Amino acid sequence: MKRNCLSLITILLFAYAAAFSQTTVTLNTSAAKTTINKNIYGHFAEHLGHCIYDGFYVGDTSKNIPNTDGVRNDIVDALKKLKIPNLRWPGGCFADTYHWKDGIGPKDKRPTMVNKWWGGVTEDNSFGTHDFLNMCELLGAEPYLSGNVGSGTVQELADWVQYTNFAGKSPMSDLRKQNGREQPWKVKFWGIGNEAWGCGGNMKPEYYADEYRKYTTFISDWENTGGLTRIASGASDADYNWTETLMKNIPGNMLGGVAMHHYSVIEWNHKSSATKFTEEQYFATMKSALNMEELVTKHAAIMDKYDPQKKIALVVDEWGGWYDVEPNTNPGFLYQQNTMRDAMIAGVTLNIFNNHADRVRIACLAQCVNVLQAVILTDKEKMVLTPTYHVMEMYNVHQAATMIPVTVKTNDYTLGTEKLPAVSVSASKDAAGKTHISLVNIDTKNTQTITVNVEGAQYSSVTGRILTSSKLQNYNSFDEPNKITPAAFNGASLKANTLSVKLPPFSVVVLELN
Ligand code: AHR
Repeated sequence: MKRNCLSLITILLFAYAAAFSQTTVTLNTSAAKTTINKNIYGHFAEHLGHCIYDGFYVGDTSKNIPNTDGVRNDIVDALKKLKIPNLRWPGGCFADTYHWKDGIGPKDKRPTMVNKWWGGVTEDNSFGTHDFLNMCELLGAEPYLSGNVGSGTVQELADWVQYTNFAGKSPMSDLRKQNGREQPWKVKFWGIGNEAWGCGGNMKPEYYADEYRKYTTFISDWENTGGLTRIASGASDADYNWTETLMKNIPGNMLGGVAMHHYSVIEWNHKSSATKFTEEQYFATMKSALNMEELVTKHAAIMDKYDPQKKIALVVDEWGGWYDVEPNTNPGFLYQQNTMRDAMIAGVTLNIFNNHADRVRIACLAQCVNVLQAVILTDKEKMVLTPTYHVMEMYNVHQAATMIPVTVKTNDYTLGTEKLPAVSVSASKDAAGKTHISLVNIDTKNTQTITVNVEGAQYSSVTGRILTSSKLQNYNSFDEPNKITPAAFNGASLKANTLSVKLPPFSVVVLELN
């Protein structure tokens, strides 16, 4: 009897704790000093499936789709609204097979090639250097060119830099002018190969470090534009030895950044459908997404040993969810739908990047249009903005703002015996003095009641926007493109500088405090 009473009391205590437990967040505004580099909100466009062809680029003869020199105007407008800061091109794995000279000059004279990594399709090189760099000008985005180290030469990459960046008289600037472009584009971001440990050449880190040193010796700043940012091909996920070897063997003054790739994937040989997934599959995807925190922390700690002043950026130039391709699509084209699960990945990942703004200074979501965790999907003249697009648009208030360190004590999101932190948060103060807090609740069932204490600042009003939907598996389709869009959020109230927030299940909220 006594034992029964005790277990009843224990159950009641747990039930009470579950019903009333709160997540507490503290904003340490007086410790705010690091700028969130706008470039962590960057994107990636590879010659893969319909990212470029029938995505960004419909060709200048397209009659049905309004375009500027072949680039869709609706995509340009949408990405400008997103404040896209940079765009990485032409790959990915494609970059180490790409010879840029095949993509300049009269389009009907350009040689073809076979896109060996992505579907074995014939690439006609009709979208090349001019098309991409002019498109970046339209977008107001910094181009990030990935050089071919795997199957190219040092001379070829040095020539590309001279072609794009040199204003004076030289063989490559003459060629550029002959092809119709007088002024150089002044490209700052240069990737020296991609995934050199894999599709970029299956190299060992010591060998790649030497290759990198050789390439960067000749990839110089033709224009004195303030210096090129030369970025080393980085580790896959937790390959800390890769980062350590590069940091040890490459002089700091040759390194602008070290890359790292991490995809939110359940298992490479056992992924899930993009739209028809179970809660177990959602949980596993979020576990992988949240692992970005550990990866960034550990890679950054290695970089700290060699670069305590944090001059070299950690560049997460490929991230996002990776699922099975949509039924009846080419498996080599990596076309997948985008649900509220993707919104959750985007929200927690961008919070991690914001919170590590001291080291993570460039990042690129994979990929921008029609591939993997895209922000835009197209079908002929139709275009859809995905839930991921909306998260990136809501979060763009953090670009170039000062990061406010946050301390978060959160409830868990539990499934069976496993648990994950339910709430993820980041905050910043912009140049106009407004504070923005982005909050994500990944829990599928429980609303999170959050108390936000603000130290070192006074606020008198709060407004906000929310992205959520009735089902985690919901998405924006070509027939229902506005099923998921941001709405005004009324779940936050401010009393005596303490903010109370009720965050519904699987939702992303961005608050503005004045
Ligand atoms: O984004 C798709 C591919 O994933 C990229 O080409 C490659 O770098 C990575 O393995």
